[in-house]
Amino acid sequence: MEALLQQIENYKQEIAAVEASTLEAVESFRIQYLGSKGLLKTVMGEMKNVPNEHKRAFGQVLNEFKQFVEAKFELIQQAAGGGTDNAKDNNFDWSLPGSFVPVGTRHPLTVVRNQIVSIFKTLGFAIAEGPEIEDDWHNFGAMNLPEDHPARDMQDTFYISQNPAWLLRTHTSSTQARVMESQKPPIRVICPGRVYRNETISARAHCFFHQIEGLYIDENVSFADLKQTLYFFVQEMFGKDVRVRFRPSYFPFTEPSAEMDISCLICDSKGCNVCKHTGWVEILGSGMVHPNVLENFSIDSNKYTGFAFGLGVERICQLKYQVNDLRLYSQNDVRFLKQFTGVM
Ligand code: PHE
Repeated sequence: MEALLQQIENYKQEIAAVEASTLEAVESFRIQYLGSKGLLKTVMGEMKNVPNEHKRAFGQVLNEFKQFVEAKFELIQQAAGGGTDNAKDNNFDWSLPGSFVPVGTRHPLTVVRNQIVSIFKTLGFAIAEGPEIEDDWHNFGAMNLPEDHPARDMQDTFYISQNPAWLLRTHTSSTQARVMESQKPPIRVICPGRVYRNETISARAHCFFHQIEGLYIDENVSFADLKQTLYFFVQEMFGKDVRVRFRPSYFPFTEPSAEMDISCLICDSKGCNVCKHTGWVEILGSGMVHPNVLENFSIDSNKYTGFAFGLGVERICQLKYQVNDLRLYSQNDVRFLKQFTGVM
């Protein structure tokens, strides 16, 4: 025991005398004294040879020794940090500009989706989301599109081979179905999300795009409410000068149905390629929710009425930022994407 204590004293003197001015020397100190096979570990290992009655006292000696080695290490580390090796660091010009870290930008579709969502939020619409892989019922059946209904042709989609009862949703009406399934009127939601169609990819069509559909069900909801809501939306989105018109249309889930056009902002309705020289561009489909749809969810169609609408985010983005090719949205070309830097 005496010999052991003396030995530790000797080590201490040895260590105290160490001088290390370079980072390499500091590292070899660390390895020699503090490393996993270093002196400290070896000395600690002596504990098992110490008789029980001395263990406590020896433990204290060991602890002090450990602190001693660590303190020394810190000291030489600091010294080396300011030593000759690092002289060049001391001359470092801290006023130099930092290295450039490119930051991403929001995707234009995200930007436009957020704008649309916030407009409807001011009208009290809640946001609902649902799965992109759907079953036939929520996407078609519940929406008054029974099997073999010819209107299904307009929304051909992709089926999941493991289970053909599953498909990629063709519209976010499927989310509206899920809302009607789980909530009681009054219902006021918008459903943003990605949807899929089996289309050949071109500048004007893609196999997926983004929608925002809206649904409002309550007592005494009328077509006037639909018109006013959508008129408010386009004015907020495109400015107060925009004009709207409704054209009769057909959707199996609404009756009556209407397509809404806005005056062409690109040519100020004088006639251009975008409006196909008509002065008007179609931006959404809408209508009064078909009683069959309400009844599918046990909503009393004699008591409640509602309106629904669906718009394509790509379309709105095209009009707002004059994007003329749908493929640009998913090509990930930085030259396209960085044009939206700073657009929130
Ligand atoms: N679900 C329709 C579509 O995707 C859009 C729509 C929604 C039309 C609600 C009318 C009412 O084409």
